[in-house]
This record gives sequence, structure tokens and C-alpha cells, in this order.
Amino acid sequence: MTEPTGVSSRRGPLRAGERVQIKDAKGRLNTITLLPGGEFHSYQGVLRHDELIGGSEGVVVPNSAGQEYQVLRPLLNDFVLSMPRGATVVYPKDAGQIVQQADIFPGAVVVEAGVGSGALSCSLLRAVGDGGRLHSYERREEFADIARANVESFFGAEHPAWSIHLGDAQEEMLHVHEPGSVDRVVLDMLAPWECLDAVATVLAPGGVWLNYVATATQLSRVAEAIRDSGKFTEVQANETLVRGWHLDGLAVRPDHRMVAHTGFLLTARRLATGEEALLLKKRSKVSEFKAVDVEAWQPSDESRWTPQALGERPVTDKKARKAAKEARLMARRAKEAQTPGSDPDAFPDLSTGQVAPPASTPAPDAGGPEA
Ligand SMILES: C[S@@+](CC[C@H](N)C(=O)[O-])C[C@H]1O[C@@H](n2cnc3c(N)ncnc32)[C@H](O)[C@@H]1O
Repeated sequence: MTEPTGVSSRRGPLRAGERVQIKDAKGRLNTITLLPGGEFHSYQGVLRHDELIGGSEGVVVPNSAGQEYQVLRPLLNDFVLSMPRGATVVYPKDAGQIVQQADIFPGAVVVEAGVGSGALSCSLLRAVGDGGRLHSYERREEFADIARANVESFFGAEHPAWSIHLGDAQEEMLHVHEPGSVDRVVLDMLAPWECLDAVATVLAPGGVWLNYVATATQLSRVAEAIRDSGKFTEVQANETLVRGWHLDGLAVRPDHRMVAHTGFLLTARRLATGEEALLLKKRSKVSEFKAVDVEAWQPSDESRWTPQALGERPVTDKKARKAAKEARLMARRAKEAQTPGSDPDAFPDLSTGQVAPPASTPAPDAGGPEA
């Protein structure tokens, strides 16, 4: 039996082209790409990559000045926080909840939009496995490039279950999927309500639609749109707060700092065609609130729902292209690590003492969703 995609890059000796995390005694963390002849320079000493290549992960090795470093492969949670990115990524605590709450199962046919930097795609691909299908829709080509390369870096190969489709999800998914043929839909985008008709068409009866949105106004707008359509039921929302704990002898307490807000998850289930949602008696009646209040909270003028109005930082094409270039180089090296000799130019010739190009220069790891 062949191994599932990505398994070989998660175990065994460290290979040239792989990413590793090195941590010093002060807890400073850097993620580097192992290169033949490569070096990691700190203000104190040099750590030679050749001393790590071919060895085990989990080792603690001294650099030229005797300073010790712990060496580990990044977990998926670590990888998404240090990979090149254009758009903001889904934070690991939410990715775990999305897989669970959207009920993503091995073999499932899943639609995802937008793909952004590909962080959530990695979690969804792991959950559907080689026998499932993940169709990811993205309207910005540079973001699709970043995501493609990041996913290849993470799995060390192209994933057989994955297709990226360029364009607006609400239009493209109708060309790709037969009505009622999709098991799950996961949307992480500014205006998910624009996809309502398309999602209602492609999603199978009983299928789960999950939306990940950053603000309460988006949450409310998509929830009301879903309810008003009458095509879905079980509309539920929540957010996840994860508080780390400090563990040091008798000083055992919650961490002082935490990532307080990332986004809200909203799920709904597709009713069979022609069925009407149960009218829940608890729901407030339209007459109990004024149209002007709803309009103030959820403007019907679409031009007011801009990324800036919702607090998102715009990503320039230049920044996205730079991240895509870096991600592609990482992906070439990760693939070379798994199939040595397939890309002889993946590694620079460091025998002349030249400095390694950008993807192999260490960058302190990013800490949060906005980093
Ligand atoms: C926040 S990012 C997604 C991040 C991604 N989930 C990740 O974890 O890396 C939102 C993305 O949705 C894309 N997008 C927004 N509206 C879209 C639409 N209607 N169709 C396709 N993509 C869309 C944007 O270009 C952007 O890349």
C-alpha cells in the first residue's frame, strides 16, 4: 500500500530542502530551509546545515560557539504561521474547529473559497485525504500562486485531491459541480452571502455550509441571508478562545497574553429541495425591530462592504507577488527533499561561500493571524 500524500515529509531523517525549526536556550525560534553547505548565523556563532541533514529531528546541537539549538520539523500549526502569505490565514485554533464543525470526513467532496494563502487548504486536504476532493476557489491569481506553492511545500508534493479554480466562487462553482453533488462548503471571504444561491445549488441535502467571518456585522448579515432563503436549517454560530497556560514549578497560571479575536464560525445545513425550514417560535418578529436599525447595522448598499470598512488591511499585488516567489522556492526545495535529483537547480551552490537566497534566510517566526 502506498503512503498517503505528505507522510514521508513528516518522519525519518532530515533531508536537504526541508524546513526545520531551531530554538535557542532563550526560546528564540527561527524556521530555516536545510541546504547543502548552508549556514545559520546568529550574533553568536554558526550552525552548519550539513550537521543536521541526514540526522534525526528532536536533537539538541551546539553551534560553532557552543550555543545549543533544539531542532524539530514544524507541525502544521507552526508551518502556517511561518509560511509566505498574501492574505490573512485562518489561525490554527480555528482550522481545527472548522474541520470538526464542518464535519469534514475522509473521501468528502469539499468546496472552499477563497483560498488566500492556503493555510486552511492544508487542514482540509488532510481531513479529506487522498480519496477525497477539495475544490478551492480564488479570485486573485497571485494568492492562488502563493497557496499552491505553500500546499506543495507542506505536503512535499502536489496533493492528488486538490484543484484550484480561478475566479469568483459564486460563479465558478456552478460551472464545476452538478447540483447537489458537494458534501461540504467552507467559505472564508468578505461577503459570503453573495454565494448563497450557488451554495444552495451545489450542496447536497443535509450538507454543511460553514462560514468564517471576522466581524459581527458580517456574521449577522450572512446568518439573516441564510435564514431568509428558507433553504437551510440549523444555523449556529460560535467563536473559539484558546488560552495558553504558563507551567513552571509552582507558578502554574494562565498566560498573560492570548490571541483574543480571530473570527466567528457560522454553520448551516442544506434542506432537501422544496422543504421549508421549521419556523422556530423563539425567533423575534420583523415588527419587533425597525428597518432603519437593520439598515444601519447591515447596509444594503454593497459598495459599503469594503475590506477597509471591515478592518482588513489591503494586500498590494507587489507584496503578493513577492510572497508567491518565496513560496515557490520553498515548494521546489520541499519537493526536491522528497524526490532527490528531480530538480537539480533547487539548491544554490554554496561551495563558493555565497550567501543563501531569501527563502533560506532565517526569519523569526510570526506569532499571530495578522503577522
Ligand atoms: C482571508 S483570505 C482566505 C485565507 C485562507 N482561508 C487561508 O487560510 O489562507 C480571503 C480570500 O478570499 C478571496 N475572495 C474573496 N471573495 C471571493 C470570491 N467571491 N470568490 C473567490 N475568492 C474570493 C480573496 O481574494 C482572499 O484571497
